[in-house]
Amino acid sequence: MPEIMERSSRGRTTPRGRIAPIVAVGSGKGGVGKTWLSISLAHAFAAAGKRVLLVDGDLGLANIDVQLGLNPESDLSAVMAGWIELDDAVSKVANGAGAGGFDVLPGRSGSAALAELPMEETARLAAGIAALSLRYDHVLIDLGAGIEPNVMRLARAADRVVAVVNDEPTSLADCYAFIKQFRLYRPDSTPWAAVNMADNRASGRRTHEALSKACQSFLGFRPPLAGIVNRDPLVRDAIRAQVPLSIRHPRAPAWMDVKAMADALLEGVSMPDDR
Ligand SMILES: Nc1ncnc2c1ncn2[C@@H]1O[C@H](COP(=O)(O)OP(=O)(O)OP(=O)(O)O)[C@@H](O)[C@H]1O
Ligand SMILES: [Mg+2]
Repeated sequence: MPEIMERSSRGRTTPRGRIAPIVAVGSGKGGVGKTWLSISLAHAFAAAGKRVLLVDGDLGLANIDVQLGLNPESDLSAVMAGWIELDDAVSKVANGAGAGGFDVLPGRSGSAALAELPMEETARLAAGIAALSLRYDHVLIDLGAGIEPNVMRLARAADRVVAVVNDEPTSLADCYAFIKQFRLYRPDSTPWAAVNMADNRASGRRTHEALSKACQSFLGFRPPLAGIVNRDPLVRDAIRAQVPLSIRHPRAPAWMDVKAMADALLEGVSMPDDR
């Protein structure tokens, strides 16, 4: 079977199946769990001993800092205004248990300047993230909802795009639209899918199958499955407490699911269709 290649942000080619240093998490539709999943994957990568940078790529409505309960001294709005360098906007996040922390590049919620960033500035930010990524094992970019050019521009900074989807028809439609739009920019890429808020594993499988059927029919490929995260009331409890799920509820089913997804992404091996 010929190896499927993805073009990386640094001009190399990355075979599908090998680890991707920069992962962008998108979805098209809002509210499907991109931010929570990005943060949780950052915790899981860090717990696996990786040096991790988490970037708030939701430029207009950033909320990584809010979910993490951070009060950062600086953020991307100061970088884009030219007041500080990208490096200076990086904050450290401890995991609450003394180990496994990671770095975060926070945004600023409600910043009109970031929401309306001109395309060339977004391209500059994408290049800055690619340069910063050399200091880390993994970089996660939490993208904003939608399929606007700025969202796509940041997605293109990644070696791998993971599209989050749930079983609602609107999520499936918007996730397909996101993947289709991304492939206009990167026809040779293979975005992965991540099912969130599944009622159970079988229903998560069905969601992936529905998305895959649409992608296969109209785009000619099936998005590999990064994993399935079940709907878990403990997620909401941890977000409200602004404490990582892994700390507040270390045995939470959703945390187990995220750890399995992190392993799949770290190893570059998607979930087989029959598991
Ligand atoms: N696996 C899950 N189980 C239960 N609730 C979840 C799960 N994942 C996410 N949620 C809930 O969904 C809400 C929205 O999540 P999140 O803010 O991460 O979505 P988003 O896709 O980043 O939204 P936006 O597009 O607005 O940025 C969370 O506040 C949380 O309550
Ligand atoms: Mg979000």
